[in-house]
Amino acid sequence: MIECRDVVRVYGQEKKGFRALQGVSFMVAAGEFSAIMGPSGCGKSTLLNILGLLDRPTTGQFLLKGTDASRMGDGERTLLRRQTIGFVFQAFNLLPRLSALENVCLPMTYAGARRAEREARARELLEKVGLKDKALRPPVELSGGERQRVGIARALANRPALLLADEPTGNLDSKSSADILAMLQELHKEGLTIILVTHDPNIAKAADRVLRLKDGRLE
Ligand SMILES: Nc1ncnc2c1ncn2[C@@H]1O[C@H](COP(=O)(O)OP(=O)(O)O)[C@@H](O)[C@H]1O
Ligand SMILES: [Mg+2]
Repeated sequence: MIECRDVVRVYGQEKKGFRALQGVSFMVAAGEFSAIMGPSGCGKSTLLNILGLLDRPTTGQFLLKGTDASRMGDGERTLLRRQTIGFVFQAFNLLPRLSALENVCLPMTYAGARRAEREARARELLEKVGLKDKALRPPVELSGGERQRVGIARALANRPALLLADEPTGNLDSKSSADILAMLQELHKEGLTIILVTHDPNIAKAADRVLRLKDGRLE
């Protein structure tokens, strides 16, 4: 599914800038559940942004399903991202003026799905994450754990092959974190490839493997 070949990411000038990733190489097979761990500032989010086609390596290659995404143009990358990748964020990143249902519909709107189709899919996803009865609530009326469940439903909207999550339980209490973990494990069982950044040892334990980053290198 994924291959990183000697990925370097320099912030600022290529020669004098800050090397947030200093030559990272690894592969992830389809269906794997991987956790990325490491101290604050070691490059976890930088790496995840590259895996999610939100950023490019300064040097090195990033291959997604065998295609070298580091060489693609912006339009092509946006399309590939929309079709292939779902994102879950630590701070949920839901739009406050939209209902849970409308938030889940949004990626399908961008992908050009019809309204009836979007709503049916969004309702099905909200039911899957246990929020059937709260579909019309705005985020402010939902708990942190519920907001993250909306975030997961939204990430799944366009049936991605790869789910990326940057500290998805970082803002949650232990009960909500356990619920989110159970949900991720269920998705993994269904065959989704998952890569998440986490500080939570329980989540790391559930993963097939842990990638440890330190100072921009894999240990
Ligand atoms: N846009 C940026 N410009 C300059 N430096 C950055 C930028 N983003 C991140 N960094 C730096 O790169 C390093 C890695 O950041 P990040 O990937 O966010 O770490 P982590 O997610 O592991 O905490 C940090 O030292 C951070 O300050
Ligand atoms: Mg980070």
